[in-house]
Amino acid sequence: MNSSPKPLLLDILKKLNATQFVSGEDLAEMFQISRANISLTLQQAKTFGVDIQRIHGKGYRLATSIDWLDASQIQSLRQETGSVTVLPVIDSTNTWMLQHPDDFEHGSCLLAECQTQGRGRRGRQWTSSIGGSLTFSLRWDFPFGIARLSGLSLATGVAIARALHRVGLTSAQLKWPNDILIHNKKLAGMLIETQGDALGPIQTIIGIGINVHLTAEQREEIAQSVTDLSEHFSHPPSRNAILAILLDELHSVLKVFTEKGFAAFQSEWESLHAWQNQPVSIMQNTTTILQGIVTGVNADGALVLRTPHGEEIVHAGDVSLRRAS
Ligand code: BTN
Repeated sequence: MNSSPKPLLLDILKKLNATQFVSGEDLAEMFQISRANISLTLQQAKTFGVDIQRIHGKGYRLATSIDWLDASQIQSLRQETGSVTVLPVIDSTNTWMLQHPDDFEHGSCLLAECQTQGRGRRGRQWTSSIGGSLTFSLRWDFPFGIARLSGLSLATGVAIARALHRVGLTSAQLKWPNDILIHNKKLAGMLIETQGDALGPIQTIIGIGINVHLTAEQREEIAQSVTDLSEHFSHPPSRNAILAILLDELHSVLKVFTEKGFAAFQSEWESLHAWQNQPVSIMQNTTTILQGIVTGVNADGALVLRTPHGEEIVHAGDVSLRRAS
């Protein structure tokens, strides 16, 4: 998604629901603009993943209702503390936090209804849509340097899996190093970035994206096998409720990680690994550089493989994991 929705689009969408039609005339009155302008603005909705039903003489309604993000609802549903900011449309929550370090303190969370330039790992794009994604970043500061952050993304994966299990998605699993899968299809991912002194103290921006409802166009755009929450629930829990649980799990895991490192989560991570004891290939770009059976991860979060030449330790970086046929 490269263009930005007009700020007005979200305001108008918030006046619509999936049950009743709202006339163009009423909307024009509410926003003090012409009906033509309402119509023009709503034509943009499809580009951002929102289907609008329009019937002459009746007006507009949403094809599917949207549970809008709401900071006060999130705060009321969680146990832990920390500020929660919801912005309507920004390029990327990670980029925003990195660019405004003084606006976000340790433990604070920034959510976006819509990201126009969401970033994934290894330079990839992260696709999202209005109401169809949960995209946020959490700032977490560590009193030590980058050397002790190995395994942080795996520990974060444990927090995400715990939260998904708590909302009923007990089939959510992890794939080394950073993916969250359901039945081997990607549901969520994370991008962790750092700022500050590499020797410590260091600040991390933990960006997490969860697919809530992917449109057919988005599924085509994404070059891998993906899933979303709507495939697994007839009535998915609200994004606010999921986020509240997720923030609680993240705070709890990150506190333990600060004290004990990834070693405290090693066996839980292995029990959640989708490809534990499976044959895999380690890929660098499109080249297979190693093959073996996954026996687990070590206390630093590196992958441990049994190969015909003995045990091999693989560190996350520019490599990716594929299941071997
Ligand atoms: C991946 O699996 O490639 C990582 C995806 C991370 C996406 C999230 S969405 C919120 C935050 N902001 C971004 O631009 N990226 C992360």
